[in-house]
Amino acid sequence: MGDIPASEDLDGLKSKALAQIASAVSMDEVETLRVSLLGRKGEITSRLKTLSSFSPQERPAAGAALNAVKNVIEDALAQRASSMKKKEVTERLQQESFDITLPGRPVGDGAFHPIGSVMDELISIFQELGFAVVEGPEIETDEYNFQMLNFPDDHPARDMQDTFYVQNGARLLRTHTSPVQIHAMLKRQPPISVIAPGRVYRCDSDITHSPVFHQLEGFHIAKNVTFGHLKGILELFFHKLYGKHTKLRFRPSFFPFTEPSAEVDVSCQICSGKGCRVCKGSGWLEILGAGMIDPNVLNAVNYDSEKWTGFAFGLGIERIAMRKYGIDDIRLLYENDVKFLSQF
Ligand code: DAH
Repeated sequence: MGDIPASEDLDGLKSKALAQIASAVSMDEVETLRVSLLGRKGEITSRLKTLSSFSPQERPAAGAALNAVKNVIEDALAQRASSMKKKEVTERLQQESFDITLPGRPVGDGAFHPIGSVMDELISIFQELGFAVVEGPEIETDEYNFQMLNFPDDHPARDMQDTFYVQNGARLLRTHTSPVQIHAMLKRQPPISVIAPGRVYRCDSDITHSPVFHQLEGFHIAKNVTFGHLKGILELFFHKLYGKHTKLRFRPSFFPFTEPSAEVDVSCQICSGKGCRVCKGSGWLEILGAGMIDPNVLNAVNYDSEKWTGFAFGLGIERIAMRKYGIDDIRLLYENDVKFLSQF
């Protein structure tokens, strides 16, 4: 016969254990108590081991009594452990302190890319003048980039545009934004006033040419549109961009999609037309190509060229940005060097 745990004995053990648990003042103490009571050699565990020596009649009652005490002790340990944990965390937080006078870590400011800023500026001026903004695909067909813009096959003007062909010549990277004229004309009916900003590609690279660059195309088609309207719009535009003193000069030129065509120069903003290094002494800066839309282009999109007339113009964004910010190598615009870009 093993030791019969007298019920007073068990009660005594229980109250002693609960008192010890209640007076534990740290997680460590709670853990030590758990081991001494419920661990492999703990008091409760040892008593449970003696149950096998009880007679079958006594065993159930003895087991139930012991288990009840074990459960009470387990609950008490868990509760004490959780309140000790809370106490320890609170104490630690009370000791920690923040020095709110320490300076913050600096966060670098972002900056707008010069191309993006100039693009936004030009777009908002043309929007004020009533032009809608449209975009077109950068991968084009020969039809849109050349044929419908009145570049006949084998026309020497095609050679002026160093074209990147893709898909074995079935497609090309647009060499200018002019094909967006065709897309827009096919989608809309006149009267139309549209600008088309975007990336264009040419097989060319040096300090003033980049294989990818940006243009802004603009055109207006309505009844009785004349070259005078083109001059008026460009003058309004450059007065808003460079100031009221800016003068424009139109020189005869050639583009297959306009007739007549012109190269447009603006008076040099640096020397106000007196002549300086930037304008190479001439007082003028070449700024865009323009002209009256050729009737062949209108006919290609099934517009009645007897009824509608229009003007078009195309300008290079890089040239305007380089002058505005005094950048002398176009490649700087594409190297994404943060030291360069953060100046703007
Ligand atoms: N597409 C021409 C180019 O990239 C620029 C241009 C000239 C556009 C005259 C026009 C225009 O709309 O009328 O060289």
